[in-house]
Amino acid sequence: MKKTAIGVFDSGYGGLTILKEIVKQLPEYDYIYLGDNARAPYGTRSFDTVYQYTLQCVEWFFEQGCELVILACNTASAKALRSIQQKDLPKLGANKRVLGVIRPSTEIIGNFSKTGSIGILGTTGTVLSESYPIEIHKFFPEIKVFQQACPMWVPLIENGAFDSPGADYFIKQYIDELLAQSAEIDTILLACTHYPILIDKIKQHSPAGIELVSQGGIVAKSLAQYLDNHQSMSKMISKTGSLQFFTTDSATDFDNHASLFFGKEVKSEHIFL
Ligand code: DGL
Repeated sequence: MKKTAIGVFDSGYGGLTILKEIVKQLPEYDYIYLGDNARAPYGTRSFDTVYQYTLQCVEWFFEQGCELVILACNTASAKALRSIQQKDLPKLGANKRVLGVIRPSTEIIGNFSKTGSIGILGTTGTVLSESYPIEIHKFFPEIKVFQQACPMWVPLIENGAFDSPGADYFIKQYIDELLAQSAEIDTILLACTHYPILIDKIKQHSPAGIELVSQGGIVAKSLAQYLDNHQSMSKMISKTGSLQFFTTDSATDFDNHASLFFGKEVKSEHIFL
């Protein structure tokens, strides 16, 4: 039987915050990471553009022999995952699987809140898709969901300017706008895989007592459960603990930025799509 790695995808660096936690929980598997840095950010792009870009990247993973691809990107999960699963996968390979990050987060986020009011911080695309309120209400019908788009955050992060004094202005602005929607919000989900990089600053600008939830550990746990429940998939994935990194933009830039997100030095290769 052919052996294959797990594909992990993001528009840029953000998915590395998810891969880091996945590797911590499931170190035995092989992984291929692709950041579509040349076309990031996805968050402000149209539905069709995000779908086309994401599909192209998923097809690239399949060409590398991956049978399982994780969209470690909320924007792609919100705007492309369903179409890929329903329209494209039957043509691309009935046994292949593409999973996202929204479902694992919405399944449990209601358990974090005592007040029953949750704030979602995400890209414009994720917020406008309404995926979070819709999915959360399937699991927690009583929970009130408030959303705030943070269009300046990913550009600040991708450009390495998230630690500048100018960044504080935008970090505070979006948190204030979210919390102005309800005084009851006691839990905030960082619904963009780039945002854990801002967690200290987000904490600094949030009132005490608000719980900030990142997705890395949640997605990793959910993937572990998925592989446990799908032994035929688990058996197909090669287990030598290898990691390969690819980017659609400069490999040197990727390597210079990636360790901040992944917590370790990485060596990437450039690909053209
Ligand atoms: N990191 C991605 C997310 O989780 C998207 C960032 C972007 O490209 O705008 O939504």
